[in-house]
Amino acid sequence: MNYDEKKFLGKLAQIETLVDLEDLRIEYLGRNGIINQLLKKIVEIPPDEKKGYGVEVNNLKNRINQLLDKKKNTLNNRMSAEFFDKTLPGKEYPKGSLHPISTTIEQIASIFQKLGFIRVSYPEIEWEHFAFETLNMPKGHPARDDFESFFVDEPEDKERGRMVLTPHTSSGQNREMLRLKKPPIRMINIAKCYRRNWDATHAPMFYQFEGLCVDKNINITHLKGTIEYFAKKFFGPDRQIRLRPHHFQFTEPSFETDISCNICKGTGFVNGLNKKMDKAKCRVCKSGWLELGGSGMVHPSVLKAGGIDPNEYTGWAFGFGPERCLMMKLGIDEIRDLYGGDIRFLEQF
Ligand code: DAH
Repeated sequence: MNYDEKKFLGKLAQIETLVDLEDLRIEYLGRNGIINQLLKKIVEIPPDEKKGYGVEVNNLKNRINQLLDKKKNTLNNRMSAEFFDKTLPGKEYPKGSLHPISTTIEQIASIFQKLGFIRVSYPEIEWEHFAFETLNMPKGHPARDDFESFFVDEPEDKERGRMVLTPHTSSGQNREMLRLKKPPIRMINIAKCYRRNWDATHAPMFYQFEGLCVDKNINITHLKGTIEYFAKKFFGPDRQIRLRPHHFQFTEPSFETDISCNICKGTGFVNGLNKKMDKAKCRVCKSGWLELGGSGMVHPSVLKAGGIDPNEYTGWAFGFGPERCLMMKLGIDEIRDLYGGDIRFLEQF
């Protein structure tokens, strides 16, 4: 049979377009194509071989048909993969953003940096010495219990005591005094803290930001002015603050620091602007005030532990929570939402 398979396969391999493929189909399977010419030759075949010849040409026809179809599929697939429609609207990819706690920390840092405070952060795994001893809470002092600390299962150091996951940023006070050696000190220490706590407003890992200011002639008005500046910048210009007597080992006098409630405008009643109409207590604050955190004038023993003469220098300090500030600002009542990682919650920020 006058058919060259190699020639056909060679031609097929070189074809790149559907138009050329159609030409090849006509060349082989068309009315005057190679296969039909082979069929016409059947008249020249001896009678007893005619049947075998016919079957052979038919098989060949089918095989060529299959090979052409296969090539057609390959070309079609390649075209759809390469096809790029510039007019289609673009796909919007999901965008990430900073976690609301990170944003809050950045805001807090920048408010204090404008006042000349230097941002630092000190070890999350701390010695008892810095977390308690230098803060006027010597070994065995019951005030240590308030800090519900996680201790690290490591041998005790003779001078610095046990290792602890720092329960508050106040541990940075002594470290900053030692770092600068001498006032003036204006520190804003923002770091992770840990306590054995887990409820709607407490997480075992949380942040604190600690302000510390030590210099000559520093008094309570500087503390109050600084916190008020922060409160108005962070929460809004109409917010008020107040200091309420309290007790901390490392400050004297010590205060709880409150900020006026935004919902009732500091009145303690739902309809804060018109008390006569509605005497119901504000559900958010109940008293007109929300607690920001602790503050006070640095205790002389704390200054001494940092090598600072309390007769020459005075200072103030405060320790607040960024999460609490954020929750109070936006009305979030579950700290665990902030740490849950639920994208539906986080997407709102
Ligand atoms: N360290 C305290 C706590 O975590 C908060 C605190 C209170 C910090 C008074 C201060 C301060 O600097 O002066 O409960």
